[in-house]
Amino acid sequence: MTIYPKLILDALATVRYPGTGKNLVEAGMVEDNIRIEGMKVSFSLLFEKPTDPFMKSVVKAAETAILTYVGKDVEIEGNITVKSTQAPRPEVGKLLPEVKNIVGISSGKGGVGKSTVSANLAVALAKLGYKVGLLDADVFGPSMPKMFQVEDARPYTEKVNGRELIIPVEKYGVKLLSMGFFVDPQQATLWRGGMASNALKQLIADVQWGDLDYFLIDLPPGTSDIHLTVVQTLAMTGAVVVSTPQAVALADARKGINMFTNEKVNVPILGLVENMAWFTPAELPENKYYIFGKEGVKKLAEEMNVPLLGQIPIVQSICESGDNGTPVALDEDSVTGRAFLSLAASMVRQVDRRNVEAAPTKIVEMH
Ligand SMILES: Nc1ncnc2c1ncn2[C@@H]1O[C@H](COP(=O)(O)OP(=O)(O)OP(=O)(O)O)[C@@H](O)[C@H]1O
Ligand SMILES: [Mg+2]
Repeated sequence: MTIYPKLILDALATVRYPGTGKNLVEAGMVEDNIRIEGMKVSFSLLFEKPTDPFMKSVVKAAETAILTYVGKDVEIEGNITVKSTQAPRPEVGKLLPEVKNIVGISSGKGGVGKSTVSANLAVALAKLGYKVGLLDADVFGPSMPKMFQVEDARPYTEKVNGRELIIPVEKYGVKLLSMGFFVDPQQATLWRGGMASNALKQLIADVQWGDLDYFLIDLPPGTSDIHLTVVQTLAMTGAVVVSTPQAVALADARKGINMFTNEKVNVPILGLVENMAWFTPAELPENKYYIFGKEGVKKLAEEMNVPLLGQIPIVQSICESGDNGTPVALDEDSVTGRAFLSLAASMVRQVDRRNVEAAPTKIVEMH
């Protein structure tokens, strides 16, 4: 018996792709590379996504169709290769090549103001003229949709160089994405660690972040799978650790710092932020009340030999502006606005210092 390509195509035309209901030939899923050597037949099936859920069953059905319609002696098993028509994701380490600096905002203890600092830092950097992206990586408690008043935003996708990419939301000069745009936080609590990590990877790799000077990542509290995913997926410039001056927060901040600096992870600490450093009542602007203790974070920074990037007081407007979606950093004439601008400036100084240190030394030849 002689096998020729038309026989194979006729057999494959009897198999439907469940995703569209079209047969494999009609759906353009059979690559034009059918090879026949005696009874041995090989070719490729094209799937849009490398993770197509029907891949295995379609390959099996194609094999069966060939054995049924062409002949039971055809050697086909294991000879069908699958290919994805989607351009592959860039390799880890080559991700976000257009992003100059990637900074994680972290804390040991929850509720110390990471998200508040991330949102205001992002806005302040944008005000200083930098191109800024902000990723809210807190799967179980996303804050950015509310802090930027974009709860109803539904990011869309666009095809860029053969890849379907998510377009970030833009507000206050910041490109923004949050897990909160994609999952209902009520349901996220049912997610297993792996699901959250995969979703996060997508929000890093499958997004049109474009060229950025700063890409900030608001991390969940403590140490988690999400932290691991971020440090393993991205070449991070450094981490900013937020803490209140309270003893319990400081103990956790220390753990947080050690997580980044341990030799396996090796992410530099750009500096610490002392949030809720003191309280000043509006009617007594000269008075400072050290509710959570005085200068605890400043002392920790000295002890651990890392820079203190800034001290942010407890101010009602910081809390209110977080709730109503207008970060205080937007108002550079306010005391709090200035505090965040100066925090942003000192972070930039630390990043620049590190980039200069990391740059290869130029050897100047003297004649
Ligand atoms: N300096 C500040 N002055 C007044 N309120 C503040 C300040 N910093 C943060 N807050 C308020 O404290 C609460 C917790 O802050 P935020 O959500 O930023 O913390 P977080 O560390 O991100 O928390 P989580 O660990 O849950 O992610 C919020 O209501 C926020 O508005
Ligand atoms: Mg938060």
